Amino acid sequence: MNTNKVITISQLTKDFPVGESYFRALENINLEIEEGEFTGFVGPSGSGKTTLLNIIGSLDKPTSGTAVILGNDVSKLNTKESAALRNLHIGFIFQSYNLLPIYTVFENVEFALLLQKKSKEERYKAVMESLEWVGLTDKKDSRPTQLSGGESQRVAIARAMVKHPTIVLADEPSANLDAENSHHILQTMAQLNKELNTTFIFATHDEKVMQYLQKIITLKDGRIESEYNK
Ligand SMILES: Nc1ncnc2c1ncn2[C@@H]1O[C@H](COP(=O)(O)OP(=O)(O)OP(=O)(O)O)[C@@H](O)[C@H]1O
Ligand SMILES: [Mg+2]
Repeated sequence: MNTNKVITISQLTKDFPVGESYFRALENINLEIEEGEFTGFVGPSGSGKTTLLNIIGSLDKPTSGTAVILGNDVSKLNTKESAALRNLHIGFIFQSYNLLPIYTVFENVEFALLLQKKSKEERYKAVMESLEWVGLTDKKDSRPTQLSGGESQRVAIARAMVKHPTIVLADEPSANLDAENSHHILQTMAQLNKELNTTFIFATHDEKVMQYLQKIITLKDGRIESEYNK
């Protein structure tokens, strides 16, 4: 069993300025996540799930306390350093897919590799392997408008996985999918978690997603209410 800590969060708070005042979105969060965990934040709308994922993904910084991601204190990273951390080690799957409409499926996935120093051949191999994982090699020349919702979501997963990130962050990945597609996608992610030891962290309300999680961290009003290991 690998017990490498990939995330250590201590006494973290996050305030957002609102008018003359501020809103406390996260309060006194303490959390450790080890490499290879398949875990998720659950809790009502507004409880802080996305805010916490954004800090873990170094897209945002804590107001106080610390978030150490793969040995990097996110508060201390400059813009360039946090971009490098994301490009090399973190894959994002957003609810809205964020696919680029003018590019093909292949190019959308390849995009995640363009900031890395890889040859065209290396990129081709990695993109095709990633499309194979999600069962979409036959759609590689399609454009996002020609795909179903489930297929688009699978492209987003392929794009997040193509660089073999250490951590994948998935915000409501099943929000627009039917039950069958949700299960297919979760099975794919659970398999990648096993094969590559990729750490997956979800934010979700979806019971179907919760079934697959090994650990459920419940947030309420910006605080961790409970942590449950299955
Ligand atoms: N940029 C911001 N400025 C002000 N308040 C914000 C900002 N971003 C988030 N919040 C507030 O912080 C709280 C937590 O938001 P967050 O998006 O993390 O919730 P969530 O748990 O992801 O909810 P949902 O399930 O609806 O996606 C909410 O009350 C939200 O209004
Ligand atoms: Mg959210």
